[in-house]
Amino acid sequence: MALLPILRYPDPRLLKVARPVATVDDRIHRLIDDMLETMYEAQGIGLAATQVDVHERLIVMDVSAQRDAPLVLINPELVARSEDMDFGEEGCLSVPQIYDEVQRYTRVTVRALDRLGQPREIAAEGVMSVCIQHEMDHLIGKVFVEYLSPLKRNRVRSKMLKRSRDEARG
Ligand code: NI
Repeated sequence: MALLPILRYPDPRLLKVARPVATVDDRIHRLIDDMLETMYEAQGIGLAATQVDVHERLIVMDVSAQRDAPLVLINPELVARSEDMDFGEEGCLSVPQIYDEVQRYTRVTVRALDRLGQPREIAAEGVMSVCIQHEMDHLIGKVFVEYLSPLKRNRVRSKMLKRSRDEARG
């Protein structure tokens, strides 16, 4: 297994739209293992392949308190969602140290292939529902800051650009 570099907002590669995974083969299994390791190391609850510059429809998640319940979603499709929505604070491994309120569907049902390539359907609410919607957005090139006001978004953008300049300077 290997840690993968995570793209940082506003890297334009985060805007790419992912294509479906064609076959759940050894290459995908390796990618899943590396993404899970990367997510756990970064203490995140979800990671989309887009964030590690692989533009295929694959998400890994773990919203459990014990960090022992990895969930893999390959080619996820939203099949149902609640009418009601909730605001909740979100962060993103591609936008470290930035947190803000985003409105999401309270409940979603998603259909996806699991690690073995078997189809499954998952009904989610709470943090899991938010996380699924957040990660699925990554697969269509959307980072959560796109939901913020232009003013806030520009502030985040400047902060991130300044941070990478500072880091480059060392
Ligand atoms: Ni994210």
